[in-house]
Amino acid sequence: MEVIVCATAEEGSDLAAKEVLGALSRKPDLVLGLATGSTPLGLYRRMIDAHRRVEADFSKVFTFNLDEYLGLPPGHPQSYRAFMDQHLFRHINIPPDHIHFPPTHGRDVPAQCEEFERDMRRVGGIDIQILGIGADGHIGFNEPTSSLGSRTRVKTLMEETLRDNARFFNDGTRQPDMAVTMGIGTILESKRILLLAFGTTKVRAIQSTIEGPISNMYPASALQLHPRVTMIVDEQAAAGLAMREYYKRVYRNKLSLEGSVMP
Ligand code: F6R
Repeated sequence: MEVIVCATAEEGSDLAAKEVLGALSRKPDLVLGLATGSTPLGLYRRMIDAHRRVEADFSKVFTFNLDEYLGLPPGHPQSYRAFMDQHLFRHINIPPDHIHFPPTHGRDVPAQCEEFERDMRRVGGIDIQILGIGADGHIGFNEPTSSLGSRTRVKTLMEETLRDNARFFNDGTRQPDMAVTMGIGTILESKRILLLAFGTTKVRAIQSTIEGPISNMYPASALQLHPRVTMIVDEQAAAGLAMREYYKRVYRNKLSLEGSVMP
């Protein structure tokens, strides 16, 4: 795992944006896996800014979101689709039929989940998967005890996750306690993974993910099995890492090998 400890969330978002926009310039039909939540907002703002400066064209890009609540009416303001429209899609030029969400309506949701994964494979698989992480170590809505080989499916959400997200449902809407999420096995098939974590609430999850044993009690720890994961964390989220100084040295060495700075 590559671990990059940044001074601030802003710096972390700059780095993530550089990765995504760099990949887009090399591959205009980039396939992105996307997360909702507060963590990737800085990255999405930078993608929008690049598009406004005419430096980024998303017209050939495909996207697959990680998860969506089950049982919210389509277009509901608290749906993850509405969140993505508000914070990214309506500001850039991804064709609407290139945007994919896990299925949450209609008959036979499990069969539709298989179709969602087939769509992913049809466009060549996810090039870069963006991840946040829950305080309990979840990625997507893969809660503790999720199978590390799981595929896109319905999950019942944990109390902690419901509590963390309850603030979004103070308008009287019943908060769904189920969601459809890409599985951990699905996520691990992405070619490259960028996990972002900022702030003190992520200390325990980040320590367990990077330095703990691989365990379904910390689903993100399965990322240790992936050859191309970059964890972009700020100093606050990195506070529990025993080998923090080592990761900083590794990253400085990488930059010096790339000729960016002198060793
Ligand atoms: C949302 C998702 C979740 C979030 C996680 C962290 O699509 O995949 O796993 O990434 O709950 O949320 P924030 O970023 O709000 O702390």
